[in-house]
Amino acid sequence: MKSKLIIFDTTLRDGEQSPGASMTKEEKVRIARQLERMRVDVIEAGFPAASNGDFESVKAVAASIKDSTVCGLARALERDIERAGEAIKPAVSGRIHTFIATSPIHMEKKLRMSPDQVVEQAVKAVKWARKWTDNVEFSPEDAGRSETDFLCRILEAVIEAGATTLNIPDTVGYNLPQQFGSLIATLRERIPNSDKAIFSVHCHNDLGLAVANSLSAVLAGARQVECTINGLGERAGNASLEEIVMAVRTRQDIFTCDTGIDTTQIVPASRLVSGITGFAVQPNKAIVGANAFAHESGIHQDGVLKHRETYEIMRAEDVGWSANKMVMGKHSGRNAFRSRLVELGIELDSEEALNAAFARFKDLADKKHEIFDEDIHALVSDEEQAMVKEQFKLVSLRVCSETGETPHAQVTISDGGKEKPAEADGGGPVDASFKAIEVIVKSGTELLLYSVNNITSGTDAQGEVTVRLSKGGRIVNGQGADTDIVIASAKAYLNALNKLAGKLERMNPQV
Ligand code: KIV
Ligand code: ZN
Repeated sequence: MKSKLIIFDTTLRDGEQSPGASMTKEEKVRIARQLERMRVDVIEAGFPAASNGDFESVKAVAASIKDSTVCGLARALERDIERAGEAIKPAVSGRIHTFIATSPIHMEKKLRMSPDQVVEQAVKAVKWARKWTDNVEFSPEDAGRSETDFLCRILEAVIEAGATTLNIPDTVGYNLPQQFGSLIATLRERIPNSDKAIFSVHCHNDLGLAVANSLSAVLAGARQVECTINGLGERAGNASLEEIVMAVRTRQDIFTCDTGIDTTQIVPASRLVSGITGFAVQPNKAIVGANAFAHESGIHQDGVLKHRETYEIMRAEDVGWSANKMVMGKHSGRNAFRSRLVELGIELDSEEALNAAFARFKDLADKKHEIFDEDIHALVSDEEQAMVKEQFKLVSLRVCSETGETPHAQVTISDGGKEKPAEADGGGPVDASFKAIEVIVKSGTELLLYSVNNITSGTDAQGEVTVRLSKGGRIVNGQGADTDIVIASAKAYLNALNKLAGKLERMNPQV
């Protein structure tokens, strides 16, 4: 009998801690629905004490998810735990995840607390959390650099206080696979009441070892892995969900456990997260990269045609690559559009929003013959952005770009409802458009990244543009989609400026 490996997805919390990856409440709910469809066991929806916005997002996820447990993160502080407890209240199944650092460097330099005080605070935190739910997870932050004896002491105490999951984070991605696996084995062996809790791991990818370390821990008896879609997360990211799940599924000859994940939902989840956060997936990324199942060399192609398993250890359709269905075209009606949205798990909250999305769908169908699920996701994202009360909106854009001439853009944007025109030259049509927008906005931001992705294939595909801007230490990503990539670029730029204009007072749980 195989045991269950619990998949705890933290895309909406640790993933959101990637600079520029912050998500709106609506975006979080859309991603959470996709995670639920994929049968993720636990969704860490955010850090409710960070801000009112984060609190509301966790609450909204808790209210809309029925089949996965919804978790809120809290430092080992009574107020944080109360916020997390309130936020997960609407959930069918809710969890509080509380943490405190246990490595000598974190206790001394960051917390300025003695080891005894840390144990006392951890125990109190778990007891406070138990007042809200009997599903309580405890993490000794920076466990990967903590002393094993101290870990045994604090973990035994928190199990006694009521923690049901013990998560061992390699917060700074310092461990090596063999070492991390034996840490898990030692903790399970030495903590007298270790059988009363599930051991979990949470690995960061600073040395590119997050997945390897997590799998080594699973081989040593961990039964929950914390991971994110596309490996999103602080700095170099977290262990990638798709790699963990497919490694365990593909090597059932080695693992004595398996996940309950519907792997055909992996590629749609990857695309959704990439589209919403603006973090493109590298083409050679395992499982979800565009080239993950592409065979370039003649020898490989020949082998795959003769017998697929000569060069493929997984089937592309098993991870959702075939889910790229052509859904509709120019003649599809409003009802067909509405039912496709329902199938895709997209809920628009008013008839007005549905009408606006349908009008955009018709516009798109005029320009593009075949409309795929990805196109629908992109147009709904764009529509959601358009419905939000935004400071800046694109009214019109005209760009002249000709061989031997300097590109010139004329733009009109609405600034708080007032239309303002401007024009500028630039090094290219996109540069000219951004400069024209800047004549009006004068944002003083620095452009950190500009990227264009095809949402589907073909030259009539919609281009999805991501723009990353930074100002005064804040970093934001903006997205825009259109069959015209210059228009998509202007929309992305304005989207990023709107995010900068919106005050986002939030804190990082670990700082
Ligand atoms: O990396 C880390 O230590 C964390 C904890 C909050 C679990 O994200
Ligand atoms: Zn983390």
